[in-house]
Amino acid sequence: MDETSASVWVETRESSRVTLHAGDRSWDARTFAAHGHHYAMVVADGLQPGTITPYTMTIDGAPVWPPARDSGDEGAKYPPSVIPTMKPGKPLRMAFGSCRTSVGHDRGGNKSHGVDALRSLALKMATDAQERWPDLVLFLGDQVYADETTEPMQEFIRSRRDIEEPPGAELKDYEEYAFLYHLAWSDPLIRWLLSTLPSSMIFDDHDVRDDWNTSYQWRQEIEALDWWQERIVSGLGSYWVYQHLGNLSPAQREDDVLWQRVIRHEGADEFDITAELDDLADRANREPEAYSWSYSREFTDARLVVVDSRAARVLEPGRRHLLDDHESKWLDQQMRGDVKHLLIGTSLPFLLPAGLHYLEAWSEALAQGDWGPVGAEQGEKVRRTVDLEHWAAFQEAFQEVAKMAMEVADGKRGKAPETVTFLSGDVHHSYLAEVKREKQPHTSRILQAVCSPIRNPLARKMRFATAALSYAVAGPIGKVVARSAKVPNAPFGWHNLAGPWFDNSIAVVEDRSEGLSVRWYTGKVKRGDHLHPRLETMADVLVARR
Ligand SMILES: [Fe+2]
Repeated sequence: MDETSASVWVETRESSRVTLHAGDRSWDARTFAAHGHHYAMVVADGLQPGTITPYTMTIDGAPVWPPARDSGDEGAKYPPSVIPTMKPGKPLRMAFGSCRTSVGHDRGGNKSHGVDALRSLALKMATDAQERWPDLVLFLGDQVYADETTEPMQEFIRSRRDIEEPPGAELKDYEEYAFLYHLAWSDPLIRWLLSTLPSSMIFDDHDVRDDWNTSYQWRQEIEALDWWQERIVSGLGSYWVYQHLGNLSPAQREDDVLWQRVIRHEGADEFDITAELDDLADRANREPEAYSWSYSREFTDARLVVVDSRAARVLEPGRRHLLDDHESKWLDQQMRGDVKHLLIGTSLPFLLPAGLHYLEAWSEALAQGDWGPVGAEQGEKVRRTVDLEHWAAFQEAFQEVAKMAMEVADGKRGKAPETVTFLSGDVHHSYLAEVKREKQPHTSRILQAVCSPIRNPLARKMRFATAALSYAVAGPIGKVVARSAKVPNAPFGWHNLAGPWFDNSIAVVEDRSEGLSVRWYTGKVKRGDHLHPRLETMADVLVARR
């Protein structure tokens, strides 16, 4: 969605022509095929900025959306889907979050996985005035879990192959990914939300597999498994179709080589991208520079830069970096001021609790052999067991991006914004941290806001262990290892402003005249009504402008 256009993504049962109707206009698109599935991206253009227009959809002329009142489809109960074009001059209000498993929303599902914060947001929006809605939602990773599967997913797997054979209950191919996305997004309320609230996304590890691209050794081991090639090609290929395509503006999409093939296809038949999609996914996996999943967007007074911190990794010995050269250069160009808020979306928190940060930095030094080969083996083991794989465990990248952030904050890259804010997920708890630097009236505040999970809470005892490790144990250890000559110092310190919270939640970051507001919301079941949880504020923090 931008000021004058909207891209509406659909999956259809069959090869068809999909038409979007809004006001007295209509736009259509031919489906394209991938692995026997059919998709279309309908682009409505020439719209008026700042308008909210209800729309309907037809497939080959037959109405399909919204569901007919007498269809029995629960989706018919919700308000009409709308195209809310961006309003010039309107301060940004953006929801964000990460880590969402797909289980039922009844008592059982809520007992095992807590209340789905995203569905709670959808329920709230369905009854709330549109001017209170977020402008868009940013999903920061682990949108789907391809490794830890739920019962319905396993049932589907069992219906088509022996689940005792590798990869077992994990996903194997594109067909299984398509079903996983179906589970994630076909709940009537979620589908309604996605039909009416603009969204953009970036993967984290579980969209592919836990610890994806943690280290060179991790790559070596996984690539030796005979099912891996099909899995990674399916994971990245389905990501391109289900998540990546919608991240791009129509103009950005037209620069995409594979998308060009789709839109330039002539003739009445459906274009099948299967072979080219697999080829793209394979290349993107083998050579990080071959394809870029990062993107950026300009809003009124805010720039959102979403950087891929998983697939762009360079893992060869001696060249370990979180971002390949192309990605680094791109990020360097995006890290500019001249906006009120520079928002950097990265699935992995850039600023972890300080103790944990140094533990990760130490594990990297250990694993790369700074304390000899036995240390290296231990370091690799530790980093995989405790998930020490964030920016801090890629010190070269951390130091580079920290420098960029400071230069933006100091007004060396255009006028200093009010804030330089990293938005992240992944760690199954939420918090807000701020960099400690000498306060000057014209420098930006550098912040880290984390919202995780949307629906995949840590067990109670794990919450305690995580809090203890992150904030108590790692603190003193971190201080000790930070003194080691082999562990690089961070160029600044930082401290927690708020949190941690462990409940399922969805956050909203908002540009307000008093400063940057960050709110975390959680769904609460009232009077045993599990299907209709109420969205409540879990935390409300205002970061005042300097
Ligand atoms: Fe993750």
